Amino acid sequence: EHVDDTLRTGFHFQPPKHWINDPNGVMYYKGVYHLFYQYNPKAAVWGNIVWAHAVSTDLVDWVMLEPAISPSAPFDVNGCWSGSATVLPDGRPVIMYTGINEQDQQVQNVAYPKDLSDPYLREWVKPDYNPVIAPDAGVNASAFRDPTTAWQGPDGVWRLVIGTKDNHRGLAALYRSRDFKRWAPARRALHSGDTGMWECPDFYPVTSPGVDSGRKHVFKVSLDLTRYEYYTFGDYDYATDTYVPDPSLADGNEGLRYDYGNFYASKTFLDAGKQRRVLWGWANESDSTADDVRKGWAGVQAIPRKIWLAPDGKQLMQWPVAEIESLRGKHVNITDKLVRGGSYFEVTGLTTPAQADVEASFQVMDLGKAEPFDPAWRAVDAETVCAARGADAKGGVGPFGLWVLASDELKERTAVFFRVFKRDDGAKHAILMCNDPSRSSYADNLYKPTFAGFVDVDIAATGKIPLRTLIDHSMVESFGGHGKTAILSRVYPTKAVGDKARLFVFNNGESDVKVNNLNAYDMRSAKIR
Ligand code: FRU
Repeated sequence: EHVDDTLRTGFHFQPPKHWINDPNGVMYYKGVYHLFYQYNPKAAVWGNIVWAHAVSTDLVDWVMLEPAISPSAPFDVNGCWSGSATVLPDGRPVIMYTGINEQDQQVQNVAYPKDLSDPYLREWVKPDYNPVIAPDAGVNASAFRDPTTAWQGPDGVWRLVIGTKDNHRGLAALYRSRDFKRWAPARRALHSGDTGMWECPDFYPVTSPGVDSGRKHVFKVSLDLTRYEYYTFGDYDYATDTYVPDPSLADGNEGLRYDYGNFYASKTFLDAGKQRRVLWGWANESDSTADDVRKGWAGVQAIPRKIWLAPDGKQLMQWPVAEIESLRGKHVNITDKLVRGGSYFEVTGLTTPAQADVEASFQVMDLGKAEPFDPAWRAVDAETVCAARGADAKGGVGPFGLWVLASDELKERTAVFFRVFKRDDGAKHAILMCNDPSRSSYADNLYKPTFAGFVDVDIAATGKIPLRTLIDHSMVESFGGHGKTAILSRVYPTKAVGDKARLFVFNNGESDVKVNNLNAYDMRSAKIR
């Protein structure tokens, strides 16, 4: 079977071939990180879904194992879909996943490790009493899936939520159990919204370093209709099992997103070893199915990200786990370099600009050139604004940023950039962070969506906009404002591949921009074997 390696990633997680989607059952158990994921063992298209399994001690290098859960019983013969792991107080991990049963209904099953003394927990056993949760009458049995990690209240009762819908209304159906075996539906859903099917919900307490965050809880959902993930955070009361998002936050399609790009079906876990919460998400392909079949592979996991509540309590922050920096090799530094309006320069000296980690800080020299912000633009309009004014459309302050995966003659290039607007009151600015892949490839039949979000950086105070971009052949994963806004894009260059790829800084705005500091690193490949 042929696998085309050209655009395969070097340090982002991928199996050697075939289709992958959602991360599943992510957990840290006795010094080992477990990543399970939706996998088709037969082809580079979705289907025949099993839980593939990989383990790591550092979230960088991975050992690939045999699939942990595959269709085998009436309660999952037609597929082993997404779910989560929970570590029980007696130290045993348990997986709860969605099985597609003989009648093609979505039911929830548990699986336990066969041998707890195996450090890799290779084999998982499905008790005969599965399914443990079946759709009740009145529940849409073809939209009832993706159980979360369970949490235990002070009353000793386990709770979890399952994604479902009632007509157009997405629901996080709440279930309770004393023994993880017999589960009963709660009278009310934990949360709901008029946004279609809710896939892959996640619910967890979040902390903010150095701040008493009052034990805020995050609720995240993957919206099947928009293919984006939205979150709120707020207060959760165990006694009544009610979750109330902070009133200052928009919910639904206007809410905050984990990532404003290609990032879906994510899941967090508590890394008890390092006392942090880690987020895994799936980056789908944006080439055609025919291309995927030709390549022999499809789907990548984003770099695991540490996730926490911003100290100002306004949003979540994300940053690639520090371990990934162990792959940094050759280093190039640029300090205080002026990029005049309408100019660009190449960042030279890297051996592998197609596989690199770039951290940069941009200073705007003349904020007065900022164009007016249209007060009618809401958060959701970021994409529209960036699509209408791409990286080549001249502006006042910006567009400026990086051209990554650029070809020699600069015809192939993916732009990661900022645009700064002046708000009406004059005091505040609005900063837009965008990915423009419209020139990313000579190839046809690619989906090249513009992605964009606002970055909550007070540029008048700091004068600077920080950007970090992980470049990995077909992955461009960026973090603006030290982790306030993340955007992941998949691109498919034909010339800017391998050691032919180049890296540039550009400025198409009127205002000059200074690169205060830019550190670019070659990235070694992770060992995934
Ligand atoms: C999300 C999803 C889940 C489902 C799984 C099937 O991408 O559709 O809702 O469990 O993928 O592979």
